[in-house]
Amino acid sequence: MNGNCENIFSGKTIWFTGLSGSGKTTISGLLQKRLKKEGFFSVLLDGDSVRLGLNNDLGYTIASRKENIRRVAEIAKIINNNEITVICAFISPTNEIRGLAKKIIGSSGFYQIFIDTPYELCKKRDVKGLYEKALKGDITNFTGISSKFERPDDADLIVKTDLHSPGVSVEYIYQQISFLLNKSVDIDLIRKADTAIKAAINAGVKVLDIYNANTFEVKYKNNRSMFTDADITSHKIILKLLEKSNIPVLSEEGKNIDFSIRKKWNIFWLVDPIDGTKEFVNRNGDFTINIALIHNNLPVLGIIYAPVASELFVGVKGLGAYKIKTIDTNISISDIQREGQKLPLNIKNKEFGIVGSRSFMNKGTRAFIEDLKIDHPNAKIFVRGSSLKICMVAEGIADIYPRLGQTMEWDTAAGHALLKAAGKNIYKFNDHIELTYNKKNLSNPYFIAK
Ligand code: ADX
Repeated sequence: MNGNCENIFSGKTIWFTGLSGSGKTTISGLLQKRLKKEGFFSVLLDGDSVRLGLNNDLGYTIASRKENIRRVAEIAKIINNNEITVICAFISPTNEIRGLAKKIIGSSGFYQIFIDTPYELCKKRDVKGLYEKALKGDITNFTGISSKFERPDDADLIVKTDLHSPGVSVEYIYQQISFLLNKSVDIDLIRKADTAIKAAINAGVKVLDIYNANTFEVKYKNNRSMFTDADITSHKIILKLLEKSNIPVLSEEGKNIDFSIRKKWNIFWLVDPIDGTKEFVNRNGDFTINIALIHNNLPVLGIIYAPVASELFVGVKGLGAYKIKTIDTNISISDIQREGQKLPLNIKNKEFGIVGSRSFMNKGTRAFIEDLKIDHPNAKIFVRGSSLKICMVAEGIADIYPRLGQTMEWDTAAGHALLKAAGKNIYKFNDHIELTYNKKNLSNPYFIAK
């Protein structure tokens, strides 16, 4: 990702960092056994064993440690390219050194776990007697005593071995990472999904306060479309959280970015801070917050949050589509794929379902639906607002959503990603070409979601 589009169809590296004696070797060994039990074969590279052979020419200056890690990362990359998982357990003491490993392996395939065991406890354990020797001065450049250890500032997971037994820690790690080992999953995209989910739910919580207030002012833009304070509040919250990703953002409330600039973006966030302002104003609950990530003009990640029902829809390329009821701003993709419902839902013996717009049902759409009813006389018609129409298709409750009317790219992008992750798609009306994004004109053609 990040525009480089790394090859994601490869094995992953699970990288453990932490002080000597923190428990990296014990935990990585147990993790390898746990993975094996589930049928995942992995290769374990551990500091002590690598330094006995391959890297026995290296010492412990920062420069030597860097070379140690460089070689190990290159080996991990080769093994990953053979579609095999690698577990690495190395002190790798600085952000620069760990960053080097991440760069060599590629952030899409690199997952960093910090074994956060306090120095005092490592010293007390002193399994190899090295702390005692280092304190006496018999060993030089010893991590934590005469050589630095920087806490990672970008760890994907932090494990505290002083609070939990190795068995409990390994089970926790397994729960968090097992889905990442699937070769089609891009870890970098999962990190971005976590960021977008946080943004959408945070915005949703604030928007709900405005929605539930006794009054709110309805304003009109030049083109006469309405908006409220909720649109602006949601936009600001989302922007603040997404900006940390260093990826440009195009939002309905920040859409005036010249085409000459945005046409150069091969990756960007496409946001609708409130989709269904009309439903919001009419207080029927059918409004959503939509965040999509567009890569090479197609959506690869889509988050739709419906604050009133507290329903979250998530679609991630290579992982799948999910739905979960939540107001937890810290919920992660790993929680969702364990606890949420996978889409499409498994619905048995249902009638053909057609979903249409609550606020914009026009003549053309009506005629199209009448045609569908010839083949499906018992068809069930649903009427919903906002992206929830697309969500119904992703869920499999509706089979088709025809939209023969005006929509903008930010209205469909997140739903489009969700549909694709659920094995469906959005096509141009009367065509089998899927919708694309970041066009000069940001409006969509008429379309069919199915
Ligand atoms: S790293 O810093 O280059 O990543 P690595 O994980 O390979 O270190 O090796 C650490 C292991 O080497 C320790 O677990 C310890 O057994 C041994 N060791 C020997 N001397 C030192 C030292 N000066 N500092 C840290 N570890 C040392």
